[in-house]
Amino acid sequence: VGTSGAGKTTLLNILGGLDSPSAGDVVLCGQNLSQAKEKQITKLRNQQLGFVYQFHHLLAEFTAQENAAMPLIIAGMSNREAMSKAADLLERVGLKERLGHKPAELSGGERQRVAIARALVNSPRVVMMDEPTGNLDAETAESIQALMLTLRQEIGTSFAVVTHDMALAQKMDRTLVLERGGLVER
Ligand SMILES: Nc1ncnc2c1ncn2[C@@H]1O[C@H](COP(=O)(O)OP(=O)(O)O)[C@@H](O)[C@H]1O
Ligand SMILES: [Mg+2]
Repeated sequence: VGTSGAGKTTLLNILGGLDSPSAGDVVLCGQNLSQAKEKQITKLRNQQLGFVYQFHHLLAEFTAQENAAMPLIIAGMSNREAMSKAADLLERVGLKERLGHKPAELSGGERQRVAIARALVNSPRVVMMDEPTGNLDAETAESIQALMLTLRQEIGTSFAVVTHDMALAQKMDRTLVLERGGLVER
């Protein structure tokens, strides 16, 4: 958590190897990103990390199932296996009946569920979430938050979540405040 402009998105981008720090190192799964080549960072990001943003960033031309399968296809898995894993994940997030729908045919909450399924499909070590419920109405946000907490327990993946929602922040194991360029434990 932290005020707008405090640097939360910048920090997540640096942690996820999408941006590089002007000072200091990021060590991810034992690998120092400042010493890694772009290709290695891309591979690490694809295999060990998942990302969820405020806006779903699903590909409009592809179905929910294809969107959720994308990280696996990019990682080189066969289409059939990737689509089958994507279907499993979509079922877990409550979208069993929506596999063949494109993003435009889904509600805001359903799109965010697809985005969460996509982020988790490759069983990442960490999922970075930047305001994952920031664009949803209160009721939908609450159901997505409940889903996040369930999945975190079931799948055993760590979530690093940026949020304005203090209720969500309080449900996490740790809450850190980003202020004046530093992190303080709350
Ligand atoms: N790519 C960039 N280059 C330079 N400054 C940036 C860039 N992205 C964000 N900033 C600035 O860095 C600060 C932190 O931004 P951001 O990480 O988006 O904050 P938050 O997510 O906490 O609202 C802001 O002052 C913003 O204008
Ligand atoms: Mg931000």
